[in-house]
Formats: sequence, C-alpha cells, structure tokens
Amino acid sequence: MTEMIAQESINELVDRFYDKLTKEQYFIELFSKREVNVENLKNRQREFLYKLANTEAANEHTNRVNRSHAFQMSREGAELWMNTVVETIRELEIEEEAKTMLIEKIQYLLKNLLHK
Ligand code: HEM
Repeated sequence: MTEMIAQESINELVDRFYDKLTKEQYFIELFSKREVNVENLKNRQREFLYKLANTEAANEHTNRVNRSHAFQMSREGAELWMNTVVETIRELEIEEEAKTMLIEKIQYLLKNLLHK
C-alpha cells in the first residue's frame, strides 16, 4: 500500500470534521436519536478514511458504507455532511492532489449511498 495521506493527517481531519458536525442541529439530533457514541464513531472513521485514502479503488468500500447507513437521511443532511468534509479536507496541509483524490472517493461513496 502506497501511503498518499498519513494517519496523522487523517486524525486531524476526523477531529476537525466532527468538531464542526457536532455543532450542527441536524447532526445533534441525528446522533442523539441513534445514540451514537461520537468518540467511537471517530475511531472507526480514522481507520476507515485512512484505508480509503490509501487504497486504489473506492468501490472496495461501497458495502461497508451502505451497511452502516441503513437509516433514512435527508438530502440536506447528506449535503451538509459532504460540504463539511470537503471544507475540512481543503484546510489540511497536504498535497492538493491527495485532497482531490480523497474528495472524489468520498463523493463516489456518497452517491452510491444515496442511490442504493
Ligand atoms: C461517503 C460518505 C460517508 C462515509 C464514508 C461515512 C463513514 C462512516 C463510518 C466509517 C461510520 C462508522 C460505522 C462503521 O464503522 O461502519 C459511519 C457511521 C455513521 N454515519 Fe457516516 N459516512 C458517510 C456519510 C454519512 C452521512 C451523509 C450521514 C448523515 C447524513 C452519516 C451519518 C452517520 C451516522 C449517524 C453514523 C453512526 C451509525 C449508527 O451507529 O447509527 N454518514 N459513517
């Protein structure tokens, strides 16, 4: 596996991303309704995004994402999630090429998730 993005940068992304998300009313309500343990979610996301960033094909990860999001999400909620992750990735101090690659993979997975 060639490392495109270091674990350290992914950890920073996850911290900043959930800092932003947990201030949004939609996610305050969603996480509370589903009794989500955010620390636990962040741990999983650190592992998941590191693998996603550093494997060739995003489609290896479609099943995992679809399985863990069997609940109903609104289009606005999904848009807010995506805009927030893109904004946070852009703030990282990593190669522009690595940012674009990660954004594209996440976009691909989200499109699949919304049309499953
Ligand atoms: C491609 C986009 C997304 C990715 C890659 C992603 C990734 C993940 C991962 C890795 C987990 C942990 C569960 C596991 O380990 O399988 C998770 C859980 C979760 N995600 Fe996402 N997510 C995405 C989009 C979204 C969106 C758009 C929403 C809401 C609008 C959302 C809400 C949640 C919630 C609420 C959980 C906790 C699930 C539960 O325990 O009920 N995610 N996500």
